Amino acid sequence: MTKNTIAHQVFDLARWAPSGDNTQPWRFEFVDDRHVRVHGFDTRHHCVYDLDGHASQLSHGALLETAAIAATQFGHRAEVERSDTGNDERLAYHVRLVPDPAFPPDRLGRSIAVRTVQRRPMSLRLLTDAEKSAIEAELPRGYRVAWFEGGRVKARLAALLFASAKIRLTMPEAYRVHRDVIEWDARHSVDKVPDQALGVNAASLRMMRFAMHSWERVAFFNRYLAGTLLPRVQMDWWPAIACGAHFALLSDRTPAGIDDYVSAGRATQRLWLAATASQLQLQPALTPLIFSRYAREQRRFAEGDHHLAAARDIARRLGSVLEAGGVHDASSVVFMGRIGEAPVAHARSLRLSLEALTVAS
Ligand SMILES: Cc1cc2nc3c(=O)[nH]c(=O)nc-3n(C[C@H](O)[C@H](O)[C@H](O)COP(=O)(O)O)c2cc1C
Repeated sequence: MTKNTIAHQVFDLARWAPSGDNTQPWRFEFVDDRHVRVHGFDTRHHCVYDLDGHASQLSHGALLETAAIAATQFGHRAEVERSDTGNDERLAYHVRLVPDPAFPPDRLGRSIAVRTVQRRPMSLRLLTDAEKSAIEAELPRGYRVAWFEGGRVKARLAALLFASAKIRLTMPEAYRVHRDVIEWDARHSVDKVPDQALGVNAASLRMMRFAMHSWERVAFFNRYLAGTLLPRVQMDWWPAIACGAHFALLSDRTPAGIDDYVSAGRATQRLWLAATASQLQLQPALTPLIFSRYAREQRRFAEGDHHLAAARDIARRLGSVLEAGGVHDASSVVFMGRIGEAPVAHARSLRLSLEALTVAS
């Protein structure tokens, strides 16, 4: 049985923070009643989207921000500090909870456990100025949102996401990731993504499951049966049209190292919780950003030269959409996605229990 200290209560709520593919790249060491050492890891050795650890570091930031917000629900404030482990793949953060009854509860606390990704089509209704301002008001200093609205820009982004998904679905390096993170026949999953939360219909899910049995099958489907078309239309193109807006979260300075990505993750989680508080649904779309970064840094993320060329094309197209929206430096974008009015997802990822996430001191 886990104990019921303030630290346990705070982290029992904080564990609802989002992470890429629900990997939950963190473990908690309860040092004492008010001090938690968070062990953050990344998935660079098996996840092609996390080769530099930055995607996991964004998730660490989301967790730390959630812990800070959760602390305020219990009359505490959180002091967060990263300690040097000398190993970029194994990070450590200290979260110290300081009793401070004068510190008001953060209004975003109520959204922590109900925030969830929505991958299905959303309403076309534009966000109101009040909704956008309510989100922007929650961002930490140094961050702002660029909004992309209207049929023309959504069509450009839909085409871009469609192209980006082709890289994802035709690359053996990504097949292995998808195979391992999807839980089939599931509405909920504690450590993966349930297939019913993917946003595809039952017939397509059956086809995907059959095809994903082996890479050879995927390659056969892709080559002879246009196997990527239907999933890309359902998971990428149509959702990109069916939403109120796309957004890009921008940092004042280009993120360069671990702390910048952690800080960006904190801002991301505030944005997402603020959207939830306004009854809006959100879906991140990080792969175009990741492929663009890999292209910029000339990282060989795939065996196939055509995949590297396709990533360069994504980078060019994304840069041009951003530029048209007044964002002149694509490398300042730390998070992207779509947002809008929609029912809350009926299928979602759950989380490992606090006990399972706890490591001994
Ligand atoms: C850094 C990061 C990147 C993500 N990228 C994507 C993405 O590209 N597409 C997507 O559909 N969801 C993405 N997600 C959402 C996660 O898959 C989701 O948060 C996780 O599975 C937990 O589910 P929940 O948010 O419903 O609790 C991302 C989340 C984070 C934190």
